[in-house]
Amino acid sequence: MSEIQHNILVLHGPNLNLTGFREPDLYGKQELSQIDEMIAVEAKVLRAEIRCMQSNSEGLLIDQIHTNRKWADGIIINPGGLAHYSISLRDALAAVRLPVIEVHLSNVYAREEFRKTSVVAPITVGQITGLGGYGYVLALKALVNFKEAVV
Ligand code: DQA
Repeated sequence: MSEIQHNILVLHGPNLNLTGFREPDLYGKQELSQIDEMIAVEAKVLRAEIRCMQSNSEGLLIDQIHTNRKWADGIIINPGGLAHYSISLRDALAAVRLPVIEVHLSNVYAREEFRKTSVVAPITVGQITGLGGYGYVLALKALVNFKEAVV
């Protein structure tokens, strides 16, 4: 197994604290704490250190990106609705020059037109959408693999 240490920041955006309760047909029955636990289990396997946080505030998410920019070597973010319009969040992610993977629980391409645009996607290395909480586990694997292959 690789000895490389990975420090990954995991950010959940607005309304994701209600995951498990909020529109379960779209977002699944798993609560956010259960998703975070799945991420933590996979992080152990991959020898990654993770910092997970959720906020309903755009500014707090941006602050976390700034604060962790020297600690983190990659970011996984579900920007929630901010994906569709927040230029400030995109700018913060671009500013720190870290590999980013965007995750959505639901398949945003199978929903309303406005969800089909992500202003964040162009500055990411990739996007995982529609696979529920497991999408974060896949994102973690992909980010570690990306870093070992590319960075
Ligand atoms: C979401 C998709 C967004 O369009 C929506 O605003 C969310 C959740 C998802 O995980 O599927 O809040 O990011």
